[in-house]
Amino acid sequence: MIIETLSVFPEVFEGYMSASIMGRAQRFGHLSFCAHDLRDWTHDRHRTVDDEPYGGGAGMLMKAPPIYEAVTSIAAAVPEVKPHVIFFTPTGAPFTQRTAERLAREERLLLVCGRYEGMDERAYALADERISIGDFVLTGGELAAMVVADAVCRLIPGVLGDDMSSKDESFSGGEGGGLLEYAQYTRPAVFEGAAVPEVLLSGDHARVAAWRRRDALERTCRWRPDLIESAELTEEECALARQLVERYREGGA
Ligand code: ADE
Repeated sequence: MIIETLSVFPEVFEGYMSASIMGRAQRFGHLSFCAHDLRDWTHDRHRTVDDEPYGGGAGMLMKAPPIYEAVTSIAAAVPEVKPHVIFFTPTGAPFTQRTAERLAREERLLLVCGRYEGMDERAYALADERISIGDFVLTGGELAAMVVADAVCRLIPGVLGDDMSSKDESFSGGEGGGLLEYAQYTRPAVFEGAAVPEVLLSGDHARVAAWRRRDALERTCRWRPDLIESAELTEEECALARQLVERYREGGA
């Protein structure tokens, strides 16, 4: 997978993208990452990328021409693989694990990051999609691009070791069936007076699996009842979920 970014602050990607799992993914050849500087496609002395909005209003907008030139020239640099072009904006479609799974099947992503008060609307003509990472406003799209790159990278086959599967975690349609992930514990067995649930020390795999399923269901009912509707539940779990959601809604512990 090739992931490229286009932004006026390409240096902000360095640390995060070369650390930990994303760094290793690059060293092992699963991921090729490149941060492009939008100012490389300007032609004036000040390398201008923004301008005042027509019609007035506060702040500056990113100009369409440098973005257009940059995206077309970056795409042409690897002509055999057309990039899937994503623009980041709070007005985009909400980013979810499902989006990450879909994007992980692309061969090449170009993540275009806005700054200032947004972009000239005509720049979005280059976008295959617009993504928002949440209902809040960042000072720029760089963090959003890193969020997406991170969530996508760990889904690329081979990036997580076999011992770090992404199959049964929160939000994955996999073994978790759309529930939040169950609670996990490691040593010590008792910490600050809180003991690890006895069943997890029992070595009884069936009981452990049953406890985890129930815990995932309880946590989802408590913290994210909105996920219950689309979770894959048995009839029995469905009935239990209804009771739990009700109990937590009433402020039960
Ligand atoms: N740029 C500014 N805020 C953003 C958000 N919430 N998501 C994506 N891009 C953004």
